[in-house]
Amino acid sequence: MVRNSKTRCIGILTSGGDCPGLNAAVRAIAKTVIKAYGIRVIGILDGFRGLVENRTVHLENKDVSGILTLGGTILGTSRDKPHKMPMGGKTIDMSDVAVANAKNLHIDCLVCLGGGGTQKNAYRLHKQGGINVLTLPKTIDNDVYGTDVSFGYDTGLQIATEAIDRLHTTATSHHRIIVCEVMGHSAGWLALGAGLAGGADVILIPELPYDLNIVAEYLLERRRSGRRFSIVALAEGAESQEDIKSRQKKKIKKKRSSVNTRIKSISSLKDLDKIDDDQNGTLVVREIQGEERTYHLVQEPKASRVARQLQELTGTEARVTSLGHVQRGGVPSAFDRLLCTRLGAKTGELLAEGVYNVMVAYRGGVCVPVPLEDVAGKRNTVPANHPMIEAARLVGTCLGV
Ligand code: F6P
Repeated sequence: MVRNSKTRCIGILTSGGDCPGLNAAVRAIAKTVIKAYGIRVIGILDGFRGLVENRTVHLENKDVSGILTLGGTILGTSRDKPHKMPMGGKTIDMSDVAVANAKNLHIDCLVCLGGGGTQKNAYRLHKQGGINVLTLPKTIDNDVYGTDVSFGYDTGLQIATEAIDRLHTTATSHHRIIVCEVMGHSAGWLALGAGLAGGADVILIPELPYDLNIVAEYLLERRRSGRRFSIVALAEGAESQEDIKSRQKKKIKKKRSSVNTRIKSISSLKDLDKIDDDQNGTLVVREIQGEERTYHLVQEPKASRVARQLQELTGTEARVTSLGHVQRGGVPSAFDRLLCTRLGAKTGELLAEGVYNVMVAYRGGVCVPVPLEDVAGKRNTVPANHPMIEAARLVGTCLGV
């Protein structure tokens, strides 16, 4: 029997980087609202870009069958924001078009599945255009504010942990340092979680700027005590104290730090060396086309730089493994499937009750609505006194500080 509902039609989109669990959440929302409440569901393709470009599909129960375990998102995604949309070579504010299209679709609520940026973009559309929105927290980085956990994190954690497990055997055999770069630009949840679960010797995260000399001394001490290999779990956003200081001091010009910036005025190797010194970790690559010589600045990947520096400081051979998008691919873990199904079902209930402009969060073991205004623009980072940090310290893991 179809239950009463204050909502008759919803639009649903997935936005930002994909992650395992998006399809499980789309399925749970659509099945709940269609079956239990008779709500119509319109799928909006490729995130907010699809809303601006009016690319939609009608979703029925059969369309969301069999996608529980499927990675990625059947709706497609993009990182485009309505207020800063690249269109024909320009960046244009398309918020009005997004709102007008949402209204033309006659949806009562726009359901947005995404990370921190998506929470902000959805809230902005609500504030500016007066449309109802509802969001779900997704990201392997686990940095969405207002929820104990975001879906995708558990799966990413398992993948990164397994990778660190595997790196142990090869690092041991070759007596090497292996630096394993884990996703997480602003928050170190993945590197910290996977580092601890995988038994990494060193864990470096954005929240704790590190001192590479402390790390090197720790690795040398390990070697002195007979352990001839080490694993370093490095969050992609981790920074050394030195880098932060030099960035603040020099205020390196954006132009010079961008990848593949063309340098016209360089004519000798002496100049090249200078540039290398000036820009911590920046390599200069020379390209010869006929008579013309052009130069490109290429930022040395952070993990490579850390490995190179640790190799120099410790005299131990180092290697790098960057896990990259492997962490975002494939089937969701059982925990994420369950989380997405519960968040999706709760979303259906809230829509039927006419509860809008909230994020459906997971707090203290239950799914609850949290006002979007309390979430938008904030980030969930690892607190310095988090139990995982305490545990890392107690078991003797080096955090580089
Ligand atoms: O989803 C968040 C995230 O995984 C970040 O940790 C990472 O830096 C970023 O996405 C990269 O995503 P993309 O290459 O899709 O822009």
